[in-house]
Amino acid sequence: MSPIVIAIDGTSASGKSTNAKLVSKSLGYTYVDTGAMYRTLAWYCLKEKIDIHDPKKVGAACRKWKTTLACVEAQVRLLVDGYYPTKEIRTAETSAAVPHIAAVPKVRDWMKQQQRSCTQFGNLVMEGRDIGSVVFPETDFKFYLDATLAERERRRLAEGVDENLAERDHRDSQRATAPLMIPLGAIVINNSGLTAEETTRQIVTQIRQRLPTSRA
Ligand code: DC
Repeated sequence: MSPIVIAIDGTSASGKSTNAKLVSKSLGYTYVDTGAMYRTLAWYCLKEKIDIHDPKKVGAACRKWKTTLACVEAQVRLLVDGYYPTKEIRTAETSAAVPHIAAVPKVRDWMKQQQRSCTQFGNLVMEGRDIGSVVFPETDFKFYLDATLAERERRRLAEGVDENLAERDHRDSQRATAPLMIPLGAIVINNSGLTAEETTRQIVTQIRQRLPTSRA
């Protein structure tokens, strides 16, 4: 039986991480944060002083770096030289760099290959920007989360992060390769007025309705 993949895409601060984690717990599936994988490459480029504005150099870095995928407590981690840079990938500097490296076609090819190989860890809940459109277009379980810009800014500020979400979403949706979009067949949930638990309940209900009874 091939593993089930739940694809959760959406804008920045639309609750993808919170909901993807809650959904994965609720179903007992492995959680994959693909944004963290792009952030890891951005962090690596900054650390190695690779010019993030030079697609050739960034693409070459992807061929060169030594990475492994590990699954720890039902969450997939991308390790670089055996190291998991959990804090470093959340700095403002990394956040600002990541849309540049995420626009490089060679990077996206590399990430897609790694992300598809995550099925080695079983059934997945994978969140990102192109999971339902590019990474697992064949899955029957696609969700797209969104909320008003004001609500998303409020959420980020509550986390102590003041970033230009409109600018990041603009870059993510305008890039030529694998832009942020609503995947064909995705269920769109605007969760501006919903709690995370309410959003997760909607997602899990939809999944259970679609799962074959042998796998529900
Ligand atoms: O979800 P996040 O904020 O951690 O994502 C970081 C950046 O990575 C964001 O600018 C979009 C990009 N990204 C992407 O292009 N494709 C993905 N599948 C996941 C993230």
